[in-house]
Order: sequence, then structure tokens, then C-alpha cells
Amino acid sequence: MKDIIILGVFVADAAYRCARLPVVGETLLGTSFQLGPGGKGSNQAVAAAKAGGQVSFISRIGADTFGRIGRDVWAEAGVHPLVTEDAEVPTGSAGIFIEEASGHNAIIIAPGASGHLCAADVDARRDEIAGARIALTQLEQPMEAALRFLQLARENRTTTILNPAPAADLPDEMLALCDYITPNEPETEALTGLPVTSLEEATAAAKHLLAKGVSKGVLITLGENGSLFVDESRAIHTKPMNAGPVVDTTGAGDAFNGGFVTALAEGAAIEDALRFATATAALCVTKHGTAASMAPRDQIDALLASASSDVSI
Ligand code: RIB
Ligand code: NA
Repeated sequence: MKDIIILGVFVADAAYRCARLPVVGETLLGTSFQLGPGGKGSNQAVAAAKAGGQVSFISRIGADTFGRIGRDVWAEAGVHPLVTEDAEVPTGSAGIFIEEASGHNAIIIAPGASGHLCAADVDARRDEIAGARIALTQLEQPMEAALRFLQLARENRTTTILNPAPAADLPDEMLALCDYITPNEPETEALTGLPVTSLEEATAAAKHLLAKGVSKGVLITLGENGSLFVDESRAIHTKPMNAGPVVDTTGAGDAFNGGFVTALAEGAAIEDALRFATATAALCVTKHGTAASMAPRDQIDALLASASSDVSI
């Protein structure tokens, strides 16, 4: 049994770097290409395992070369795969375009085999979900799988966390199944219909999500402005940390989520879990790739030791 169980997508990331992003109808010469492991669920599992978490990962892959990339990264990071291999459908892939100057990206994901994740796949892992302390999922796989995962976790008193990425319409009952939810700014706007252009607005949007049934806290990631955690009694703004020049922000949200669940599983106080997540994300953006850019625990601890306390309440 693992402390942390994650449901989500694995895909192979095909990442192109370019001076600027292309517009419709345009062909651009890029500066480099990198093929590596990706998919938000898998990235979060790898981030958590490298950060020191005991992690299992529920997904689907095809019987092909891209699927092998997944098996290799899970073995290397120490993620326990609860992964079905589908002989009929290929492993998914993502086309990622990264703008050199900013490290920012645009992504198209084709989930492939993990697009076939269903409620029965989740039911088959009932014991592992019941035995975990924390269950984390996202919205890249079909909604029915995410919903069943959160239901089974809740029924078994496993803490539930939804990273609602990419933005999607949620079934009505879903928010009330979440102990924590971790949207970014546009996802928060999509979930609430409220603008999120300042800390005040983010706090109001978070309160809206709490009123809709999120029980322990809303954690909004704010890019260069860090993150904001809001629960019934507090609003905690955590500033970003600097771990070096930013080369690629792809996977930063996944690093943040992976770090957050690792600290929570260790019983950390919320302020400490927020700092741990922030450090995990700060290190990720200094390296190319997504799963390949997740930091080992010693680097996270070193950054935490050197960074000043930057949490304000
Ligand atoms: O969050 C980053 C991930 O989103 C990439 O690895 C890509 O696969 C997309 O799913
Ligand atoms: Na990165």
C-alpha cells in the first residue's frame, strides 16, 4: 500500500522550442526538440515520488514505444504503476510549443489509451485507494473516472485532491467530493465565472468554491505571483521561490501538486506544505521537460533551507 494514489494520464511529450509561438497558417523553424514522459497525472506521480512520497499511479497506456517511456520513468522515480496496457489503442502524446524567451508554452494533448480510463478501471483499484492517505487526480482523463476515484476515496476516508486541469465543466456533485482543489487562474475563472486578476479576486473566487462544498481548502496557483491558499479561517499567500533562470514552465503545476501531496502525506502543516510545493515548482522551471524536470528531495530541502520565509497570512 502507498500513502499517495494518483489517477491520471500518461502521454509522451513532444516538445518544440522556438523563438516565438507560430500563428495559424505559419511554419516556423524551431531551435530544438525533446521527446520525454508527460501527462499531468504521471508528471505529478513522478514529482511526488522524487520528492520522497510513496506513490502509486492508475492509468492506461498502449503496448508501444511511448508506453515504454512511461514504464521507464516510473521505475526510475519509484512510482508503483497500477497501469493497464491496452493492445488496441496507442499511448497518448502531447505536442508542446515552448517560447524561448519566456519559457511559456502552448500544448495540444491526445490522451490515446488513457482517454479510455473508465469507472471500472478505478473500481479495480478500490483497495489501493482505500489504503492510501491521499488521492489526487486531474481532468485529462474522462470525467467518469475522475468522479469515481474521488467517490471511492471519500467513502474510504482517503483525503481527496482535485487539480482541475485542463479547465472543464464539473458534474454538480464533484466539488463536494474534494477536500482540496488546486486550480490555476484561468481554471478558477472557468470554475466560478468570477475574474481572478488580483489577490482579492482570487480570495473571493476561493470562497465561492468553499461554499460549493470544497471542504478543507482551495489552493490557487498564480504563476509568477506564487499561490493563494484559502480555507474557512485563513488566506495564505505564498510568494514564488527563485531556484535559477526559468527555461521551461511546462510541468510547473504538476511539480507543485506533487510537492503538495508529498508534504501533506508526511503530516506537514499547511504553511509548510505550501512552501514545499513552491520549492518543488521553482526547481522544475529551471530544467527542460516535464517529468524529466522534477527535483529530487535533497534539492528541494536545500532550496527550502536557503529561501527566506515568504508566506504571508
Ligand atoms: O502539465 C503539463 C502536461 O500537460 C504535459 O506533460 C503535457 O503532457 C500535458 O498533459
Ligand atoms: Na520544466
